[in-house]
Amino acid sequence: MKKIVYMDAAASWLKQQPVIESEVDFLANSYANSGRGVCERATLVDKKIADIRNIVADFIGTNAANIVFTFGTTDALNRIVSIIKNTPLAWGNKPVVAVSDLDHHSARLPWEALASRGMCSITVCPLDKDFNIDINQIPKCDIFVITAMSNVLGLAQDVENIIRIARTHNPNIITIVDAAQYVVHSKVDVAKMGCDFLCFSGHKIGADTGVGIMYIRNPDRFNPDKFGGGMVNRVLGLGDFIWNQSPDKYEAGTLPLTQIMGLPSAIKCLSDWQKKKINLIHFMYDELSNIPKIKILTRPDAAVLSFVVQDMHVLDFGVMIGARDICLRVGNMCASWIHKKLNVDGSIRISVGPWNTMDDAKYVVETIRKMVK
Ligand SMILES: Cc1ncc(COP(=O)(O)O)c(C=O)c1O
Repeated sequence: MKKIVYMDAAASWLKQQPVIESEVDFLANSYANSGRGVCERATLVDKKIADIRNIVADFIGTNAANIVFTFGTTDALNRIVSIIKNTPLAWGNKPVVAVSDLDHHSARLPWEALASRGMCSITVCPLDKDFNIDINQIPKCDIFVITAMSNVLGLAQDVENIIRIARTHNPNIITIVDAAQYVVHSKVDVAKMGCDFLCFSGHKIGADTGVGIMYIRNPDRFNPDKFGGGMVNRVLGLGDFIWNQSPDKYEAGTLPLTQIMGLPSAIKCLSDWQKKKINLIHFMYDELSNIPKIKILTRPDAAVLSFVVQDMHVLDFGVMIGARDICLRVGNMCASWIHKKLNVDGSIRISVGPWNTMDDAKYVVETIRKMVK
């Protein structure tokens, strides 16, 4: 296989061998559906899923009943809108939803789509001069969508403090944390954060595509958004049924079983990497900041390195560096609002994972130096 330097971890992680082995082992040796069968094979799968749910719960500081398996962050963020829509809540039918310019399209567009149908109103929470959520200007709102780490700027937001302040304005507020990037670089403790919902994707922490996590602080407060097998306890009559307790209540249909099997190894590999990672981003920041045509958009301590090159379109840059066997992300990163704020159409993003070495970083820096001289 052709060797490439893959520095696009923030888009999706390369899969480590233990993750691949967990999935292959399940497919080859112990496959069955979960929550449906009573034979030994099926009950072993149930047990495995329950164990994995506990591992995930521990990973973010909560209990298994608060962990719902989804198909990814986008799936969860859209589902949260439906869950809230399906639940009669105190504000009637037109909540005020706060968003920010740090948001990924998947965090904010579901609410904007609702607003365009007159079903909520949107307020944009200001950013401070460093492009962090401005804790001095937290708006009063019913629902707050908080991007814990922008996929362009790579800075951890002070989620705990943001939520604490937002709650002083409205004790009944619902807070939704998009932790898709944050979870890779910072410890998530949902109890400390005090959020109502939090979500992230398996594939960005080294597990497979097609699985994600949705944390719900108070699963009994809300109605489910999906109906089908596994979520119903008893069907009583026409339109009359009782649903199961959480998490089953929120998990209608067959789960992404194979992808779930990869989660424990992914969490282990991620935790090992977090303990011993060498700061390649800082090194590349120092090197690239000496190149006059490069304008860096991120801070040296950020989790990613984003930049633009004078007189070169980011897509041209992406194709040119791709031809030199380097894989970076270029474009608007599904985060249009922060690019508008930064006054650029798009950017080039370097992000690293455990497979990247200092030699990779030197090769990338030298290649960029030659390309933009
Ligand atoms: C901050 C953030 N939120 C949400 C998403 C969407 O994640 P997914 O495509 O895995 O659903 C991404 C993906 O890049 C992201 O970076």
